[in-house]
Amino acid sequence: MTTAPAAKENPPFCELHVHIEGTLEPATIFELARAKGLTLPYASEEELQQAYRFTDLQSFLDLYYDNMRVLQTEDDFFTLGAAYLRRAHAGGVVHAEMFVDPQAHAKRGIPEAVVLAGLHRAIAEVGGQTGITASIIVCVLRDDPVEDAARMLDRVLDTGFAVTGLGLDSAEVGYPPSLFAGVFDRARDAGLRLVAHAGEEGPADYVWEALDILGVERIDHGNRALEDPSLVARLAADRVPLTMCPFSNTRLRVIRELSDFPLRRALDAGLQVTINSDDPAYFGGYLDDNLRALARTFSLTADELAELARTSVRASFLSTDQKRRLGA
Ligand code: HPA
Ligand code: ZN
Repeated sequence: MTTAPAAKENPPFCELHVHIEGTLEPATIFELARAKGLTLPYASEEELQQAYRFTDLQSFLDLYYDNMRVLQTEDDFFTLGAAYLRRAHAGGVVHAEMFVDPQAHAKRGIPEAVVLAGLHRAIAEVGGQTGITASIIVCVLRDDPVEDAARMLDRVLDTGFAVTGLGLDSAEVGYPPSLFAGVFDRARDAGLRLVAHAGEEGPADYVWEALDILGVERIDHGNRALEDPSLVARLAADRVPLTMCPFSNTRLRVIRELSDFPLRRALDAGLQVTINSDDPAYFGGYLDDNLRALARTFSLTADELAELARTSVRASFLSTDQKRRLGA
């Protein structure tokens, strides 16, 4: 684990791409398992962490879904959310829009209301203590049937818990965004904001589909959009934010090493780049760790970091007033 710097070292960042289940730390996995009398297929935290050597997105997802077995009660989701929000606040995050995968829990018998109640309690408690704000974006598992996604959305809306948006995640290749056009239409009608993972492993065509067929406002990752000059022009002209994730890209081998992260290329093309942690418990660090590593690798100036912070605020789903108060 890395230590967080004092919040004042950083300009105020919004974190827009973090899977709350991807903040589940090995120590918490063991604590929750012990408390429930669950036996894990690993003898120790160290042995579990030995398995955190990924070759691609799927090799990560297999472990990510398997570790969720310890998340069962409202209190577990509270513990998860509260730990992330405290750590994010310590690292200079003032607002987080947290992804959650309700389908991954529903298939283990855990209702949407249990998940959302725990997370909302965490937002209220840690928000009250630290001032950090947060909202929830429920994600569709794109490698599960479309009907499951539709049912998940209906059940989430039925809970009455506030949800800011709908996203699209899990295994990308072979599962184009267009499959979920109907679900995203329904979410838009219900007043949700729309985002989608696209162009992480999948082709630039999936980014076009996310924009033109789903009508999303942000693209999560979007690395492969850079292969298509006309798509880059579209993203730049429409100021569509990309929520990019440097540590994730290196760990899932989207890029070979951090110096290959296309930060300067994307900024030079006029894209709205935001930096995020994706699954920090699995990929080697939280948002501030990603930012420090980028600053070192690309010799970022304080002004460039401040501009990344302002872009993250502008790209958030906060109100215009809230954004103005955060300096964007
Ligand atoms: N990509 C797609 N799905 C995910 C990810 C990711 O990086 N993390 C958690 N679910
Ligand atoms: Zn992600």
